[in-house]
Amino acid sequence: MPVPPKPPVQQFDGGCVFIDGAYAPLSEAKISMFDWGFTRSDVTYDVATAWRGSFFRLDAHMDRFFESLGKMHLAIPFDRAELREILHGCVRAGGLQDAYVAMVCTRGVPPRGARDPRQAQNRFYAYALPYVWIASREKQQAGIDLHVSERQRIAPESVDPTVKNYHWIDLVQSMFDAYDRGHDTSCVLDAAGNVTEGPGFNVFAVKGGVVHTAGRGVLEGISRRTAIELCRRLDIPLRIEPLPVALLRDADEVFLTSSGGGVLPIAKIDGRPLPAFPGPVTARLQDGYWALHDEPAFSDPVDYAA
Ligand SMILES: Cc1ncc(COP(=O)(O)O)c(C=O)c1O
Repeated sequence: MPVPPKPPVQQFDGGCVFIDGAYAPLSEAKISMFDWGFTRSDVTYDVATAWRGSFFRLDAHMDRFFESLGKMHLAIPFDRAELREILHGCVRAGGLQDAYVAMVCTRGVPPRGARDPRQAQNRFYAYALPYVWIASREKQQAGIDLHVSERQRIAPESVDPTVKNYHWIDLVQSMFDAYDRGHDTSCVLDAAGNVTEGPGFNVFAVKGGVVHTAGRGVLEGISRRTAIELCRRLDIPLRIEPLPVALLRDADEVFLTSSGGGVLPIAKIDGRPLPAFPGPVTARLQDGYWALHDEPAFSDPVDYAA
């Protein structure tokens, strides 16, 4: 499928979708009710961000997307260079500087009556919206209160969490667990009681100057990777291994990582204030996260020329 020419800047001011091989306004962001992406959650996606007019770590997001497509037996009709062009096109046409940029592939609609996913023609979509924070600025300042839900994360043997997916029922229900108890957001545990992740983020605990995060059973977030690389650069001790819930509750600092805000300090666990908010280690990683946006190796500027 040919990539269309670069769309005019701000052609769809405020947000742009790429659908059926063309750029379009957000009002055209629709899929068939019969697409298995909807009826079976048979879809993979990735979300990159642009900040002050440049993509951050776009290569890492595209690598993860192509790996996920392979693991899901999905395919898109574009190569890597074309995908990049389309994502840039969405930000350009949307006239956005700070953007949430999604690439999505659904199984598609199999022929009527067919139950074999191999017969479906996969569908590709992309879109750019204004940057999305997983917690509002006000909430970040007031201090996020994280609930540890009793709900178990779906087992990685059932749904591979390294494939970015829409199997969010456990995560969404855990958000209601949090809201019902007066907390702001949630994380879920694995069968052994170790902390996995939350709706849209990875979880880190800091104890005695050592940073801990789960090594498996989670999406390998690109912001998680950034935090891990920053620990190595800054000589901050790091352990990537199962994260027992007791360690989280007893931590000196807790933070989340997500493309929706980078490194986000947590103030309370289940209503109980943590000793430090934002803690010194979290603050260094948060500064480091935003400073990396200026490093050419991590940034890919959008062309807004007319
Ligand atoms: C379940 C889950 N875990 C972790 C993350 C964080 O990943 P990233 O840092 O790539 O945004 C996300 C992002 O949406 C997610 O959905």
